[in-house]
Amino acid sequence: MTALLTDRVAVVTGAGRGIGRAIAELFVTEGARVVINDLDAGPAEEARAACEAIREGAAVTSIGSVTDPAYTDALMARAVEAFGGLDVLVCNAGLTRDRMAHKMSDDEWRSVIDVNLSGTFHCIRSAAPHLRDVAKRELEEHGEVLKVRKVVTFYSTAAIRGNPGQINYTAAKMGNVGIARTVAQEWAPFRICVNAVAPGFIETRMTAEKSAGAPMGIPAAMREAALARIPFGRYGAPEDVARVVLFLASPLSDYVTGQEINVSGGLQIP
Ligand SMILES: NC(=O)c1ccc[n+]([C@@H]2O[C@H](COP(=O)([O-])OP(=O)(O)OC[C@H]3O[C@@H](n4cnc5c(N)ncnc54)[C@H](O)[C@@H]3O)[C@@H](O)[C@H]2O)c1
Repeated sequence: MTALLTDRVAVVTGAGRGIGRAIAELFVTEGARVVINDLDAGPAEEARAACEAIREGAAVTSIGSVTDPAYTDALMARAVEAFGGLDVLVCNAGLTRDRMAHKMSDDEWRSVIDVNLSGTFHCIRSAAPHLRDVAKRELEEHGEVLKVRKVVTFYSTAAIRGNPGQINYTAAKMGNVGIARTVAQEWAPFRICVNAVAPGFIETRMTAEKSAGAPMGIPAAMREAALARIPFGRYGAPEDVARVVLFLASPLSDYVTGQEINVSGGLQIP
């Protein structure tokens, strides 16, 4: 069987760690060339080296924040400059700053909305010239698109259910469902599939046991309570999510758009 992403070029945001890094590595394994975005240069470079070990010349980094619309323009341009185009956009970058609603500061609200929600919007708008406009030209010139392009946004089972302490995060993540459903319709004439993935409880920095004073993480008792609600009896691994994102990025899902998938080991909602 041929690789699923041969000759495809992908931008994966927040790919220095966790789920994003697993996506980047799996995409390279499946033949893609990948631009690894992250805010943090060190982890991004480690991810690039891991991708290069799989296939030489398959990955470059782009360091910057998806909260900056001028930067996201440059991020998409990096894919064109390094690899000649853009076929797949994965809006994975995310963070949490948890606090009960009545105590949440404006900074905690804004930082989470800016990265998890506005970041997705910036990336999609910046990718439009390389995804939508290129596909539109193909339609005009050939009467059909030469390939089906893909966008994947990220939301969360915590957002579907609602989650005490995460008014900012759940609002931002449900916004990604709205974004996917809307852009799926706007870009359907250009045969660009836009879908949303909701990880359940996946073992990454975001869900690691919270140490005192750490900005992210989950208290031990809440981690245990979450495990008790997973019928599969284990937390997810980043690779569990990466395989579903691969499906949505690959030709296997060329007639799937505007949809949501939970990757959660059967987590009951609510
Ligand atoms: N881990 C889970 O259980 C879980 C559950 C539901 C949803 N998610 C979502 O999955 C995605 C990946 O999360 P993860 O668990 O791998 O987290 P993670 O913290 O391991 O990795 C997230 C990466 O995003 C990067 N990042 C943060 N802000 C950024 C910005 N402004 N610009 C660019 N990069 C930025 C971080 O530096 C980090 O490397 C996120 O959207 C998250 O909300 C995760």
